[in-house]
Amino acid sequence: METRTSFYKLIGKSSQMQRLYNMIEKVSHADSTVLITGESGTGKELVAKAIHYNSIRAENPFIPLNCGAIPKDLLESELFGHEKGAFTGAINTRKGRFELADKGTILLDEIGELHPSLQVKLLRVLQEREFERVGGTRTIKVDLRILAATNKDLEEATKKGTFREDLFYRLNVIPIHISPLRERKDDIPMLIDHFINIFMGKMAPSSQQGEQGLTILPETLDVMLKYHWPGNVRELETIIERFVILNETGMVAPDDLPPRFFDTKQRADTSIVSLSQMAPDGMDLQTYLDDIETSFIVQAMEISGGVKSKAATLLGLNRTTFLEKLKKKGLDVKTDAKTNEPPAI
Ligand SMILES: Nc1ncnc2c1ncn2[C@@H]1O[C@H](COP(=O)(O)OP(=O)(O)O)[C@@H](O)[C@H]1O
Ligand SMILES: [Mg+2]
Repeated sequence: METRTSFYKLIGKSSQMQRLYNMIEKVSHADSTVLITGESGTGKELVAKAIHYNSIRAENPFIPLNCGAIPKDLLESELFGHEKGAFTGAINTRKGRFELADKGTILLDEIGELHPSLQVKLLRVLQEREFERVGGTRTIKVDLRILAATNKDLEEATKKGTFREDLFYRLNVIPIHISPLRERKDDIPMLIDHFINIFMGKMAPSSQQGEQGLTILPETLDVMLKYHWPGNVRELETIIERFVILNETGMVAPDDLPPRFFDTKQRADTSIVSLSQMAPDGMDLQTYLDDIETSFIVQAMEISGGVKSKAATLLGLNRTTFLEKLKKKGLDVKTDAKTNEPPAI
């Protein structure tokens, strides 16, 4: 099959993006509900638009709504609309997003944030395509396609009881996952060029920046390729915008990158975890960090065959600090380095 470098407004040539393009193409022709998952900034909204604008509904409205951004009561009336006098301040009858999206597509973004009482009401819309406005008794029928997006692990949320299982299955008819940028780094150079073009296009040609153009030096690209991109494509987009506007020489050197690009320690653990997926309801940071520390200490002791100075070097610690940590964690057991036996911890 041919390799595509873009699809709708999505850019990327990685195998993950190829699979994504094929998936979008297939689901566009159907009318099924799709659940789009991926870390923040991976392009979930863009994928939803790509589905809508490739579907038979393309001429009709695409209505996005961020379920996490609005308090519950307001969200209810935003989704379902309200009748005049339904609550203080409801001076007029108002259509909700479900009605506005009639014949088109609605994107329920950050669906994992939806309050339980609204989860029940959404279930009915999914099953029957009907609802009442807030304060109303007349049943309104709509013809719409429902897309949902989340950066949370909804299946995990159903196990915890924060998200209804029946709603999850209704939404997850077709799951589409977008990989984080750090797992498809071959897309980075293309995305850089793409955003340079976009932001250069917004500069006056007569401006200094517009005249000299923008070159990312190979050393800079190197650092960018090694970076873990916790904010994914959105983070890349913002950085390029800043380069285009603030750059004075037309060249971007490694020095022009923010300090976080050189923070190797942070790189190690933010790539492992995402707070929203691991612990949507919060966590105990200190316990978590202690566990990670213990795990690495145990591993270092195993790799070094129990030789503490070697283990300390592996972790970039001096021997004294390492011994202190061993003691504090109760891991300070006698081991015989010569037999190369793994320590009994
Ligand atoms: N593959 C891509 N190609 C081009 N632009 C992208 C791509 N993925 C994301 N973007 C851009 O990055 C930004 C964040 O995308 P968005 O869809 O809002 O992400 P999410 O909803 O997952 O947080 C948007 O400006 C979007 O246009
Ligand atoms: Mg979004």
